[in-house]
Amino acid sequence: MEKFNEGSTAAKRIRAYDDERHAEELEGIETGDYGYKYRVLEGIVVPPYVTPERYQVARSTRLRADDICYDSYPKSGSTWLANIIVLITNYGRPPAEGTLRSHLHWLESSWTYPRSPEEIADLPSPRIFKSHMPANMALGGDPAESAGKYVYIARNPKDVAVSYYYFESNKAWSGHYDAPWEHWLDMLTNGRVQRGDWFDHVLSWWEMRDLPNVLFLKYEELLRQFPAELGRLADFLGYRLSDEQLAEIERLTSFDVMKNDRFSNMHEIEDFEGFFRKGKIGSWKEQFTEEQDARFSRLIEERLGGTGLTFDYE
Ligand code: A3P
Repeated sequence: MEKFNEGSTAAKRIRAYDDERHAEELEGIETGDYGYKYRVLEGIVVPPYVTPERYQVARSTRLRADDICYDSYPKSGSTWLANIIVLITNYGRPPAEGTLRSHLHWLESSWTYPRSPEEIADLPSPRIFKSHMPANMALGGDPAESAGKYVYIARNPKDVAVSYYYFESNKAWSGHYDAPWEHWLDMLTNGRVQRGDWFDHVLSWWEMRDLPNVLFLKYEELLRQFPAELGRLADFLGYRLSDEQLAEIERLTSFDVMKNDRFSNMHEIEDFEGFFRKGKIGSWKEQFTEEQDARFSRLIEERLGGTGLTFDYE
């Protein structure tokens, strides 16, 4: 693990993912259809840069009472949530130094955010951790036993599927996967994309939603009723902010500001130019055929029916 320090310098350009440079552990990397690269950890598909060793560091890190871990299935608005959390903990002002990425700690990843256990222990409070793991593989161990706070954000799976397709296509971390949409949708609905089955992931956190240290948010509600959701989040995290500070957070975390602001646009990572794609509810309609929509809607009914978890799709 000698490459821990690459992510420490705030605005340093992060090179496109490369197994030799970033995977740290080459054993266990598998290649599927259309070159799709992944590993399998505890039975779920993860990216090659989620190494067994990094995962153990994430699992065994003990959270402090004022630590915050935000989590999501990929493409559910987690970067947006990250910016909101950083701004809440900084009372509405962007930190003077670095970029959004440099204020976050993604322990399960060997690429873009490497931190050693010693660096993690030395970080000042509140530490803000990023994770894309299901609750049974959560950073910091079992959330029910953890002192830290967890914020999970979920998004309707049709928009997730489309956003994720564009994010994973032709990217180095997915082996330059280059397949038709139908193939991706099939992989996703069979739980074979990185971070596994969307339903298992979201439901694992949904089941934890009543724990006092877990807050379950939805992308669509954040978009539709931002001030109310922001207030809920700030209360949960234990921060009292003025109306001016809350309004400033709303301004700084709008899609257009985040897309263009050097602090939040993620442009220091190669391959992230298209990260801020649409930022809307319902862009799946431009991608799904009627037949795909009918099939996926049936699956949603089968898997979410009776759980109490529902989403807005438009
Ligand atoms: P789209 O690809 O549909 O545009 P994540 O950060 O978890 O990877 O999620 C990325 C998705 O969140 C992308 O969706 C991205 O555009 C959207 N997003 C990022 N910032 C946003 C913001 N400030 N407001 C709304 N959506 C945002």
